[in-house]
Amino acid sequence: MIRELLEKNPTVAEVAIKCPASMQVFEKLGIDYCCGGQRPIIEALSEKGTSLEEIAQAVESASASEPVQERDWTQSTLTELADHIEAVYHTFLRSELPRLSELFTRVLEAHEAKHGHVLLPLRDTYESLETELESHMLKEEQVLFPMIRAREANPSPEVMGFPIEAPISVMEQEHLNAANALTSMRQITGNYSLPDDACPSFHNLYQSLQALEENLHRHIHLENNILFPRAIQQGQSAAWM
Ligand SMILES: [Fe+2]
Ligand SMILES: [Fe+2]
Repeated sequence: MIRELLEKNPTVAEVAIKCPASMQVFEKLGIDYCCGGQRPIIEALSEKGTSLEEIAQAVESASASEPVQERDWTQSTLTELADHIEAVYHTFLRSELPRLSELFTRVLEAHEAKHGHVLLPLRDTYESLETELESHMLKEEQVLFPMIRAREANPSPEVMGFPIEAPISVMEQEHLNAANALTSMRQITGNYSLPDDACPSFHNLYQSLQALEENLHRHIHLENNILFPRAIQQGQSAAWM
């Protein structure tokens, strides 16, 4: 599957869509598949000094070790995909973001004197990301996703007449801001390298921030690369009817 796909010179996002196991390989290599996924994979790989053969092997072994195969979201309804994003990814953020804030407080209490030069800018970046994500999720849940569901349930000229491209482009810009905040956090921490005197909470903080990063990449990938293009396409096919 992956080998046939790679022969067609796909973009990074196309590989992530068709072989979801590739996302864990891209995470390890630091290849952007969510906001910057629209470029040929060959270009992204050559920047990392990785060959097509190496990526094919890595994706094959990642697919074999994935406990649960990701559903093919290009074949579901848009309503099912929007429901899945809310149930899995928005729910995760709503419990994880406050937990991370508390963790920052504990780690700063113990380590601010010695590691404040890293922890304080890290917490500032995290706090603005948290605030933005909270309002971003509300916009999706209260405006964009209901619009997507309504268009799917009733593709009448009145419902389809409202252009969906404008709210989508606002969401895409906010995704880019979130992805940039994640990149800054990685830079501030030197790729999450822990100091020698890090306590268990410090370890927990860095591990949790990396898990948040991977989770947000997958979340943004489902929206930017599958849900939004399909919602736009749905409007276009309705216009031709
Ligand atoms: Fe979302
Ligand atoms: Fe989003």
